[in-house]
Amino acid sequence: MTTSVLYRATFLHTPTSPFAVPDALHAQEDGGLLVDSGGVIQEAGDFAAVRAAQPDVPVTDLRGGLLLPGFVDTHVHYPQVRVIGGLGLPLLAWLDHEALPEEARLADDVYARSVAQDFLRGLVGAGTTTALVFGSHFASAVHIFFEEAARVGLRAVAGQVVSDRLLRDELHTTPERAYAEGKALIERWHGVGRALYAVTPRFSLSASEGILAACAALMTEFPEVRFTSHINENVREVEVVRSLFPEARDYLDTYERAGLVSDRAVLAHNVHPSDRELGVMAASGCTAAHCPCSNSALGSGFFPLQRHLTAGVRVSLGSDVGGGTGFSLLKEGLQAHFMQNLMGEAGVALSPAHLLYLATLAGAQALGLEGQVGSFEPGKAFDAVHLAPPPGTPLDAALRHAPSPERALAAAFATGTAGDVAGVWIGGERVTLG
Ligand code: GUN
Ligand code: ZN
Repeated sequence: MTTSVLYRATFLHTPTSPFAVPDALHAQEDGGLLVDSGGVIQEAGDFAAVRAAQPDVPVTDLRGGLLLPGFVDTHVHYPQVRVIGGLGLPLLAWLDHEALPEEARLADDVYARSVAQDFLRGLVGAGTTTALVFGSHFASAVHIFFEEAARVGLRAVAGQVVSDRLLRDELHTTPERAYAEGKALIERWHGVGRALYAVTPRFSLSASEGILAACAALMTEFPEVRFTSHINENVREVEVVRSLFPEARDYLDTYERAGLVSDRAVLAHNVHPSDRELGVMAASGCTAAHCPCSNSALGSGFFPLQRHLTAGVRVSLGSDVGGGTGFSLLKEGLQAHFMQNLMGEAGVALSPAHLLYLATLAGAQALGLEGQVGSFEPGKAFDAVHLAPPPGTPLDAALRHAPSPERALAAAFATGTAGDVAGVWIGGERVTLG
C-alpha cells in the first residue's frame, strides 16, 4: 500500500474483555477506520468525523455487512486439513486411525507444501488473520509451512511438533534432535516478517521427560518464543498421562515440573481440570484454548468455562482442525454458546460480545500480541474480516433488518460461514488466495 486509506463500514470490536467490563462491545454503524501506508490504524470512529479531518484520503466503501477484527485461532493443526470430519471416534482412536497416518505423509516435502496451501486457504478464507499453529513432526514440513504462511501474509505462530513415544515410529524424535531442529527453526523463522515460533510438544502422553526438558531448554535460550501443547482433553488420555508420570500431581504438573507453564503458554482443551491446575494456570498467566467443535466431535466433554473464569484463567478460542469441524471461528463461537447453554447452571451465558472477544482480542492476548492486533484501536495493525453475505441469503436479510449492531453480530455467529467472507486484510494488505 502506498497511501493512507479510509475504510467506511459498520464495524464492531471489543477493545476490552466483556468478562471484565460491561459494555465492552464497541459498534459504529457508519464507521471510519483510517489506515496509514504501513497498515496501521490511525483513527477509528464515526465516518463523518474521521472524514472531516481527512477530506483527501481515498475511501474504500465496505458498507453492507460487518467489518470485524481478523479472527485469532489459538489452536489449529496444519497437517490435519485433509482429515477434517472424521466423526465418531474418541481422541486416542481418532489420532491412531485418522490424524497420525495423515501426519506421517508430511515426510514428503511436495505433499507437505500442498497441504500447507490447502490449510492456509481454509484458514484465511474463514477470516482468520493470526493463528497459533501446530506444525508437523518433520522439520522440513515446518519450514515449508512458514514459507507458505509468509506468502499469504498470515500472522503465524507455529512450531515443530515433537514426541518420542506412543505415536508411530516415523513421528518420533529424540531430545537431542528435537532441540537441534527446534533451534534451527527458531533462528530461521522467529521474528521474521510476521512469523513467531512456538515450542510444541504434542502432549505429555507422547513426550518423555527428556523431550519436555529439550523444550524447556529452547524456551530458556529464546525467551520470546511461545509454548503450546494439549492438556486434559479426554478422560482416557488423562488416565494414561497419570500412569506415565507417577510423580506428577496432575496433567499440568507434567509441564510445570519441566518449567513450561508461563504466560507464554497456550494449552488446548482443558476440559477436565482440577482446581489445583486452574489455580496454577491463573497464577502463571497461561491460557486455555477452548475448542468447542472438537470437544463435541471427539466427545471430549463440556468445557468448564465458569470454573476457568472464577479461577482467573485466561481463555481463548481454537478450531482444532482437524479434530474440529472447520476453520470458522464464527462456528466455534456458536458451538461455545450452545455448549454453555446446555450446561445449565454450570454454564456461562455468552453474549455476542463475549463470542467476538473470544474470537479476536482474547486470542491476541493469549499470544502476547494484544498491542498489535485483536481490535480496531489506533496503533494496531489493520487486520480485518469483512462479512458480506450474498444477497438473498438469510444472513443478508438478518443484517439488513437487525435492530441493533449486537443483534447483527449474533446473526453473524449464528449463521455466518466462510461463504460470507468477502474480504480479509492483514497489516493493511488485502489477502488474495490463489
Ligand atoms: N492431543 C494430541 N494430539 C492431538 C491432536 O492432534 N488433536 C487433538 N484434538 N488432541 C490431541
Ligand atoms: Zn489439537
